Amino acid sequence: MRFLMLITAGAGLVSIALAVPHDKQKTQEVDVMIQQIKATSEMDITVLSQESSKILGYACSNILNSGAFAEKPIKADLDENGAGTLAVGNHMYIVNEDPETSGGITCGRTYNDVESFILCAVPLPTSLPLTPISNGEKASCFNSGNTPSLEAAFRSILAQNKAPETGMTDIDDLPMLHKRQTACGQWSSDTQVVGDGDPHQNYLHTQLSENVNCGEATSCTVGQSESISYTIGWSATATAFQWLTGGFAVSVTWTTGDTYSCTGSSNDTVCVWYNTAHTAYTVQNGAYNDCTGFSPSGGTFIMRSPNSNNEGGGYNCIIGSSCTNQGADYWDYNGPAGGPQ
Ligand SMILES: *[C@@H]1O[C@H](CO)[C@@H](O)[C@H](O)[C@H]1NC(C)=O
Repeated sequence: MRFLMLITAGAGLVSIALAVPHDKQKTQEVDVMIQQIKATSEMDITVLSQESSKILGYACSNILNSGAFAEKPIKADLDENGAGTLAVGNHMYIVNEDPETSGGITCGRTYNDVESFILCAVPLPTSLPLTPISNGEKASCFNSGNTPSLEAAFRSILAQNKAPETGMTDIDDLPMLHKRQTACGQWSSDTQVVGDGDPHQNYLHTQLSENVNCGEATSCTVGQSESISYTIGWSATATAFQWLTGGFAVSVTWTTGDTYSCTGSSNDTVCVWYNTAHTAYTVQNGAYNDCTGFSPSGGTFIMRSPNSNNEGGGYNCIIGSSCTNQGADYWDYNGPAGGPQ
């Protein structure tokens, strides 16, 4: 005996019958992750253990039916922004944050002009023999130059990893620089890069828009009228005597703009986020005069400046419970080494 629930999306064009099993099976929850490059329609599905984050299976297509998943294939039927359905065996789910709407999974997703990314927590029967894939690594499913990059942004917003500002020292307590007039000109306070600055990419994710929930509507959009443009300035882990580029293509400020729009489906919460890419480099305060040059004083610290033209950043649509509130922001300090890229 099976209980059938009928969900009608939109104007009745799509109807999906959800079969809820009568016999309650023991389940284990896994993460199903789907990446998609819009221009080439390249896609991959990865199943990850929630405990170990190890890869339990993957496929370079919209269907995963190898290994343990031969028995319970996972098939994604999604538009380019990641809206649509996920079939797991003969269960059909809707990609949504709310298990009541989705039919029993919990999903969040993000997209921009280039790609889309979905992460769903999906229950699978414990009888399914899930083991990490043999070499532990998956080959890339994407042509070079199409490497998906939204996972890191999505996970850092998800973790709301407001990491503490480490190494914060108050250099205001430093002995005041005594300004002495000498034959070499006046000593002036200065800040300079230490060595090559050990540059790294850091990202500041900011929610530009309010949250909009589509409710019963088939789709809804959040855009400029619900958004604020933020001006993001440089920052440092201590008080710098002055701002410097460190020789990198960075600027004093970057303005996010507010002209982005994001679309979701029924019962989706939709919002606009913006990733301001920064270069972080190691600097030190000190004193300078024309004869002796720079004499450092006090410890080294990190300066973070927005990349010129926001190289490496941009807007992201977020759909699901990672929509927080307008102005919420989180740092991701885990970007690659090097200057703007
Ligand atoms: C949206 O959520 C409401 C309340 O949970 C529910 O009654 C409705 O069926 C949902 N809509 C869809 C399309 O699932």
